[in-house]
Amino acid sequence: MTGRFDGSVALVTGAGSGIGAACARMFAGAGAAVVVADRDLAAAASVAESLPGAVEVAEVDVRDPGQVATMVARTVETFGSLDVAVNNAGISNSGVPIHEISREDWERVRAVNFDGVFHCLQSELRVMVPNGRGAIVNVASVMGTVSGRGVGAYVASKHGVVGLTRAAAMDVAGSGVRVNAVGPGFVDTPLLSPVTRGDIDSVAANHPVGRLGTPEEIAAVVGFLASADASFVTGALYLADGGYTAQ
Ligand code: NAI
Repeated sequence: MTGRFDGSVALVTGAGSGIGAACARMFAGAGAAVVVADRDLAAAASVAESLPGAVEVAEVDVRDPGQVATMVARTVETFGSLDVAVNNAGISNSGVPIHEISREDWERVRAVNFDGVFHCLQSELRVMVPNGRGAIVNVASVMGTVSGRGVGAYVASKHGVVGLTRAAAMDVAGSGVRVNAVGPGFVDTPLLSPVTRGDIDSVAANHPVGRLGTPEEIAAVVGFLASADASFVTGALYLADGGYTAQ
């Protein structure tokens, strides 16, 4: 049986849990060699163990550009190329209004969600652009296009991811490399804050479809954006949000 990503090399950050783990499973199931990258090495190793085919684990903190560059270099050393990258690692914020966000919380969220994506884009594009091919999918959020209460640091970081996606797509548009973003609605993963989890029914009801998304439903959109089916799609934000932003 042939898979949609046979012969491709896919790198997924934050792949030790939730949406990233679902992306790693999707790529491995479709024939790609997969690098399961996460700050949490044990979580990444446990996801990697369950995957078919060629799989490598990478311990990386995306806040550190040196670690990100090493992750990308090792991917190329191990598998000979880098065709697909999903910049997915992210964290939530502390749930207070803008005027109460501490400097520490602001920088904590920005460092992972925004700077982390920038570091990954730089290292990945330095491989992909000279190769003349590649597809990058940044995991943004509905909070990359709308807002909510008490999510200022997260909203700013995810709007930043959408901006970085568009800017990178423009910079490399003539090179054969595409850069897109996916914007999930709320998905039931460990990322959901205790506040959200305590009010899960009303969070679900905010989605016109009446439920949260699953990691697999987000991975399916990532798979489309990463595939040749999306050959004319670049600089786009694809929302996978159960209608959250349509109302
Ligand atoms: P999760 O908490 O299940 O997984 C996130 C993974 O990222 C964890 O394995 C964690 O160890 C890793 N990680 C965190 N900081 C890292 C760092 N500095 N370096 C490397 N890895 C790091 O979260 P989930 O829900 O799977 O989130 C994945 C992405 O999806 C995030 O960017 C998140 O903002 C986004 N998203 C999630 C939504 C949700 O409702 N769960 C909704 C919209 C977007």
